Amino acid sequence: MGARDIYSVGLGMWDFFYFNPTHIYFGRKAVSRAVKMIPREERIMILYGQSSAVRYGFVEELKNALEDRKAVEFGGIEPNPEYEQLMKGVKLAEKEGITCLIGLGGGSVIDAAKFIAAALLYNDDPWKFVMDRGVSIKKALPVGAVVTMPASGSEANNRAVISRRAVGIKRAFMSDHLFPRFAALDPTKTFTLPRRYIGNGVVDTYVHVLEQYLTYPVGGDVQDRLAEGLLLLLLDQGPRALKEPENYRVRANLMWCATLGLNGLIGAGVPQDWSAHRAGYELTMLYGLDHAQTLAILVPAMMDVRREIKREKLIQYGERIFGLGEGTEDEKISQAIALTRAFFEQMGLPTHLSDYGICDLDVELIIHLLTEHGVLPLGEKQDITSDVMRAILELCR
Ligand code: NZQ
Ligand code: ZN
Repeated sequence: MGARDIYSVGLGMWDFFYFNPTHIYFGRKAVSRAVKMIPREERIMILYGQSSAVRYGFVEELKNALEDRKAVEFGGIEPNPEYEQLMKGVKLAEKEGITCLIGLGGGSVIDAAKFIAAALLYNDDPWKFVMDRGVSIKKALPVGAVVTMPASGSEANNRAVISRRAVGIKRAFMSDHLFPRFAALDPTKTFTLPRRYIGNGVVDTYVHVLEQYLTYPVGGDVQDRLAEGLLLLLLDQGPRALKEPENYRVRANLMWCATLGLNGLIGAGVPQDWSAHRAGYELTMLYGLDHAQTLAILVPAMMDVRREIKREKLIQYGERIFGLGEGTEDEKISQAIALTRAFFEQMGLPTHLSDYGICDLDVELIIHLLTEHGVLPLGEKQDITSDVMRAILELCR
């Protein structure tokens, strides 16, 4: 047993959970305060993405904060980090005798740091631990995270998601050894995000909360109320971030919300879904959609097709989040779905594949891939068989 259980599907109420918080440093001085916990003798690898971290001075700031600690850079990490590229990072880290890694960026970069940290201490082909979802990871180098794009929650959780385009696989893996030792959350670093990524971050966070909340009632009232608080905050402040990109208070709330949305807090001891995430990975691999775009497309369709299995929670969601009081239960459910869709669109994420120019959806291919990748059945009650998935995908067109 371990933190893995936080993410498993269909847990009974309060059966067991394990909560492993990362040391979190928040605010304008977060980076300089956080790195003080790194011993002087460590040999650090700083990982970052394609251009923003250098362009906006984040790499420079981190290097200055590290003072005389030895640091090697590994930049250019792409969104949906690619296995082949990360293996180059593993080689460089081996050559440099790296003992600790810092991911400076969004989920892609932090996940890349986690992958390399585990790969360096793995005595076999690292693809094996990706395929066994992290079960065979027995140790990893320490990882720290400096967040520049709030969304994934990776800075304070035990999971990472890696893609390998040559075999068409995007896959999540988990291990207690992957919890970052520290996370530095400085909201001013998010001022530079373009609208597309502001929207992506808010929608991804919203769906993280939904996938842990919108299942079936088990008496997890603490988890429900925390989740509802985060959802209400995202509905209010997400659109404000688009209008006022340099509003510190708005950015701070969204950043903290992203971390709390997927650090194990709201999902501890309650059933979880994750079907939109898992199916979304196939859409990213096939059509190149951003992670959050796949969620914006799949979630409303999944809510609609699965309205019976989620009935009680959908009504609670409609009443408590959107204040729906009038009408029949079915009307409330339909309204809650429509309002969720409208919110994603307000955040700049269309909710149909055709809106992204994808008019040749190959439903059978996706079902085949989900089956081949051992992903079906999905859902908190394992109710998403290939037939249910087919109905969902038809609504995504
Ligand atoms: O590459 P650069 O130039 O840095 O640009 C990045 C990137 O293109 C840009 N960006 C980041 N910070 C910026 C900025 N641009 C301007 N100013 C800044 N301050 O943002 C773009 C997207 O970055 P990325 O890291 O890909 O975004 P996100 O945080 O959404 O991460 C997506 C990845 O995380 C995985 C996803 O599957 C995907 O691979 N996830 C990881 C999870 C986890 N580890 O727990 C859970 C999530 O559900 C998710 O699956
Ligand atoms: Zn996500």
